Amino acid sequence: MMGWSSGVLKVVSWLCLVGFVSGIGANWGTQASNPLPPGTVVQMLRNNGFQKVKLFDPEDDVMSALSNSGIQVMVGIPNEMLASLASGTKAAEDWVSNNVSSYIKEGVDIRYVAVGNEPFLQTYNGSYLQTTLPALQNIQGALIKAGLSNQVKVTVPLNADVYESSSGKPSDGDFRTDIHDLMVSIVQFLSDSAAPFTVNIYPFISLYDDPNFPIDYAFFNGTPASPVVDGSITYTNVFDANHDTLIWALKKNGFGNLTVIVGEIGWPTDGDMNANIQYAQQFNQGFMQRISSGQGTPMRSGAIDAYLFSLIDEDQKSIQPGNFERHWGIFYYDGQPKYQLTVSTSNSGTLVGAKNVKYLDQQWCVFKPSVNLDDSRVAPAVSYACGRGDCTSLGYKTSCGDLDARGNISYAFNSYYQMNDQDDRACDFQGIATITNSNPSNSTCRFEIMIDDAGSATSWRLAAVGGQGAGLVFYALLPFLLVLL
Ligand SMILES: *[C@@H]1O[C@H](CO)[C@@H](O)[C@H](O)[C@H]1NC(C)=O
Ligand SMILES: *[C@@H]1O[C@H](CO)[C@@H](O)[C@H](O)[C@H]1NC(C)=O
Ligand SMILES: *[C@@H]1O[C@H](CO)[C@@H](O)[C@H](O)[C@H]1NC(C)=O
Ligand SMILES: *[C@@H]1O[C@H](CO)[C@@H](O)[C@H](O)[C@H]1NC(C)=O
Ligand SMILES: *[C@@H]1O[C@H](CO)[C@@H](O)[C@H](O)[C@H]1NC(C)=O
Repeated sequence: MMGWSSGVLKVVSWLCLVGFVSGIGANWGTQASNPLPPGTVVQMLRNNGFQKVKLFDPEDDVMSALSNSGIQVMVGIPNEMLASLASGTKAAEDWVSNNVSSYIKEGVDIRYVAVGNEPFLQTYNGSYLQTTLPALQNIQGALIKAGLSNQVKVTVPLNADVYESSSGKPSDGDFRTDIHDLMVSIVQFLSDSAAPFTVNIYPFISLYDDPNFPIDYAFFNGTPASPVVDGSITYTNVFDANHDTLIWALKKNGFGNLTVIVGEIGWPTDGDMNANIQYAQQFNQGFMQRISSGQGTPMRSGAIDAYLFSLIDEDQKSIQPGNFERHWGIFYYDGQPKYQLTVSTSNSGTLVGAKNVKYLDQQWCVFKPSVNLDDSRVAPAVSYACGRGDCTSLGYKTSCGDLDARGNISYAFNSYYQMNDQDDRACDFQGIATITNSNPSNSTCRFEIMIDDAGSATSWRLAAVGGQGAGLVFYALLPFLLVLL
């Protein structure tokens, strides 16, 4: 009896251990108008079996909420700080002291510092080419000086565009020509520091960028019409092929054994015709199955270490990459699950949403029924509302893409009103808007009620409106304005 029960215990703890080793992490970004309280988000991570989290910035309230949570942390340094951190050891030592050592003392389990975020993206025009490696070296130096370099590893999350394959076959992979030598120096430094290479891989973007991309090849259960055959290996999904292009690039330059972390992977649910709940569920569930199988990729067997992108939608992200950018969450802005997902054995299929969310009142801002569509106040008001609010659910084949013209205008007004915490002044628009208690939403198109985040330091008040505005307005709204004008 004794032997039997301890045998069961062993099996159970072995299963837990396996679950732990191949555990999945989540990216937690905070570019939201009305973010959930950090303590609520930490509870969501725990309830859903996430053992690791990746942050883009060491925000104090977020770090404090993670203290003694049992969750491992990768904490990021924004690209804007790379220049100062590259310029001398003092800035890096201060950064580590304030943003790593102090939190470790408070019980935050920091495992990695991510130096920059995709700094070599081609859209940055080389802005961070000179500063990334020196900043990486200075942060590593500071970690050594602080006695933390065994416990905390440095890394640089890079977009998969830092490598390429001229033939499309993974075995022809190498680093991008214009940054080849820099990449080899970085990889050498990571290898010397026993630190991992971190790569962000986005099959969705492959599909978004190329209308001829075979959609089956984006998912994990497909049997694509034309798989990529590379020697004895047949690739049936773009994740494996992309990942192994990196492994070949590393191998070719003498670092075939470097540890690789997938820093971001996921699928958005809105803002584009291929961004929907069904595809996101299919992709993320397929990826979870890969993770839990422990099978790795053809060129790199063993567990994949990965962070899902992302945990929660962020309505203040730049939409320069596309309107889908604010919809990567497996949870909506208010922490409610979008679909079923088995993250780990502990959540068994049903995502556990945020608890005790405090919402603003059940009221919406809409276009006044008495005002004509061709009123001259309409177009500038919509442009203003969408530039500062969020209209990314209004495009072709998006969740609110079927609204009529009046519905479009109401949607824009409501978004702006909610983001401004239902301030009366945010539902005027020169007299063409009005507040209603009747919910304009239906099951596909949600007119949101914001979270009551009174007291949150990051709350976005009417008085603070500005910043992100004008540049984004026309990007988001061009199709809409064309229809209206
Ligand atoms: C700690 O990190 C924050 C956020 O990136 C930054 O603003 C601050 O300057 C850092 N502290 C130091 C001493 O560098
Ligand atoms: C990069 O260059 C393009 C074209 O010159 C410009 O439009 C864009 O603003 C630049 N981006 C950055 C981040 O400097
Ligand atoms: C990579 O790891 C394998 C297996 O552990 C080992 O045989 C090989 O020598 C390593 N290669 C390098 C370049 O370190
Ligand atoms: C939701 O509203 C839109 C716009 O009026 C409409 O096209 C769509 O069919 C509605 N969906 C449901 C499920 O009622
Ligand atoms: C509503 O806005 C969307 C997104 O800009 C646009 O595609 C659609 O045509 C608009 N509908 C009407 C009826 O104006």
